[in-house]
Amino acid sequence: MSRTFAMIKPDAVERAISGKIIAKIEEAGFNIVAMKKVQLSLADAQAFYAVHKERPFFGELTEFMSRSPIIALAMEKPDAVAAWRKLMGATNPAEAEPGTIRKEFALSIGENAVHGSDSDENAAIEISFFFNHFEQV
Ligand code: PPS
Repeated sequence: MSRTFAMIKPDAVERAISGKIIAKIEEAGFNIVAMKKVQLSLADAQAFYAVHKERPFFGELTEFMSRSPIIALAMEKPDAVAAWRKLMGATNPAEAEPGTIRKEFALSIGENAVHGSDSDENAAIEISFFFNHFEQV
């Protein structure tokens, strides 16, 4: 069993489709081990996405991620990182496979509904960014 970290991004929370996305997560067999709705400050978003700080879209990405609440989830499944990235689909919804969350719900490469960790190591870092030991079942 392994864990990954997911966020339902502001564009999806604003459109009230977080329930539909959580249903897809559970239907795919993930066990949600922690979940909360929070609003990131701009500084929080800059810290979370620090790896992208030299990218041209860093300002746009961090302003978007802090404009309204997100839902953070830690979830468990065999090979969780790869399984969640497959269910999310490509970053750019124009390239996402049919049946993926981004194909169905993403608006653009920036406002793309969901985030997922890209490695087991980053999953552990991202889970501990949002959840302490007592918040994970
Ligand atoms: S990489 O190189 O694979 O790490 O980058 P990528 O996954 O493509 O993108 C990293 C995150 O940046 C967001 N992104 C953008 N935001 C705004 N504008 C543009 N042009 C843009 N391009 C990428 C993208 O949604 C990724 O967010 P997360 O939360 O990591 O999915």
